[in-house]
Amino acid sequence: MKNILVVGSGGREHAIIMKLAQSSHVGKIYCTPGNGGISKYAECFSVAATDVDGVVALAKKIKPDMVVVAPDDPLVLGMVDALQAEGFMTFGPKANAAIIEGSKVFSKELMKKYNIPTAFYEVFTDSESAVAYLKKQNSYPAVIKADGLALGKGVIIAQNEQEAVEAVHDMIDELKFGKSSARIVIEEFLTGPEVSVLSFTDGKTIVPMISSMDHKRAFDGDLGLNTGGMGTVSPNPYYTKEIAEQCMKSIFIPTVNAMNAEGRTFEGCLYFGLMLTPNGPKVIEYNCRFGDPETQVVLPMLDADLYEIFEAIYNHCLDSINVKWHSGSCACVVMASGGYPQSYPKGIEMSGLDDMGQVENCFVYHAGTKLSANGTFLTNGGRVIGVTACGKTLQNALDIAYCGVSKISFDGAQFRKDIGQKALKAIN
Ligand code: AMP
Ligand code: GLY
Repeated sequence: MKNILVVGSGGREHAIIMKLAQSSHVGKIYCTPGNGGISKYAECFSVAATDVDGVVALAKKIKPDMVVVAPDDPLVLGMVDALQAEGFMTFGPKANAAIIEGSKVFSKELMKKYNIPTAFYEVFTDSESAVAYLKKQNSYPAVIKADGLALGKGVIIAQNEQEAVEAVHDMIDELKFGKSSARIVIEEFLTGPEVSVLSFTDGKTIVPMISSMDHKRAFDGDLGLNTGGMGTVSPNPYYTKEIAEQCMKSIFIPTVNAMNAEGRTFEGCLYFGLMLTPNGPKVIEYNCRFGDPETQVVLPMLDADLYEIFEAIYNHCLDSINVKWHSGSCACVVMASGGYPQSYPKGIEMSGLDDMGQVENCFVYHAGTKLSANGTFLTNGGRVIGVTACGKTLQNALDIAYCGVSKISFDGAQFRKDIGQKALKAIN
């Protein structure tokens, strides 16, 4: 049996752990740092996910057969490289490939060089030229992006010149996102339905996973601030078989080939954030990892052994695996702390969860929870839990997930009541 260490602490990591636990090959699962809910299913440690030396030292101590690095920061920092240097089998891209998420400038230049469809753009390192460009373009909304990682907050959609100029100054002159915003990308505003497609790739073969749809804004009707994601559904009805074929030809395979040609072979989960524009599907962003909360709806639909897939990617024989998907749909509704994505309280007692942190008929993926001294669950983050259910239809899945949500409560809890509504409209 294989023992596995998973690095990370969110709902995504909880979903990865639950899928690995179903594998006949997997024995003990460890997680660092994990959270209250994850600790019911995996032995947790206190090493931070960004502590490369600390995770390597932990791996040397517990000697797992595989280490899965789930979040973006440690991947960009080279955690996989450091673990492989010590002889560990890993899941996740090396730093030279994780740059596809770590630098928007890198990813935009890659797409331009290899003719992969994306929004038109320019790169700036001084605010004067950026503002001059904005004035010349005089086209709003304008999209302004920090080059580096910014906790998912580095994209500003400016509705007018004033907002755009402010965003440019905040990023370049005030270094709002630290070094990450010393360089920025200003790009064309695209329109159309958004689709998330996660894929498995070993650099030779690419296997797209079932599609999904995120709900990024805090409130119903896509209002309020951008968040890490307030809920997801899978599959995404806008992503038809024809569009999938088109994306495979014009985006997925060209991206894998482009990374190989650059000497940056990508091994792991490559995430395509797509917009289905009137001029065809275009790449909004790449992520070098599983999405959160996309993973929570995609992995329950996987009808294959996740450990075997991870091992095959490491051994560059992904083509030997038959990756199948369940029929039906899956939905995840995130319950967040009051105030999220701005400031919010922590340590609030939760009710309605059983001893394992679950509710009947659903799977509750914990994102920001911890256990109190007497074993109850307390809130410990912005996004607290993702209540997830599969069903024969999307409506079934949503009904079960929202029934689960209705059983759970904590002071100030906020969640969207319209997860999946856009997808339902597209189906009907
Ligand atoms: P990102 O952090 O790159 O996923 O961007 C956050 C969100 O901003 C995306 O999910 C889109 O809704 C929006 N966005 C990013 N780039 C563009 C663009 N070029 N045109 C329109 N919307 C965009
Ligand atoms: N849900 C979007 C992301 O993981 O970046």
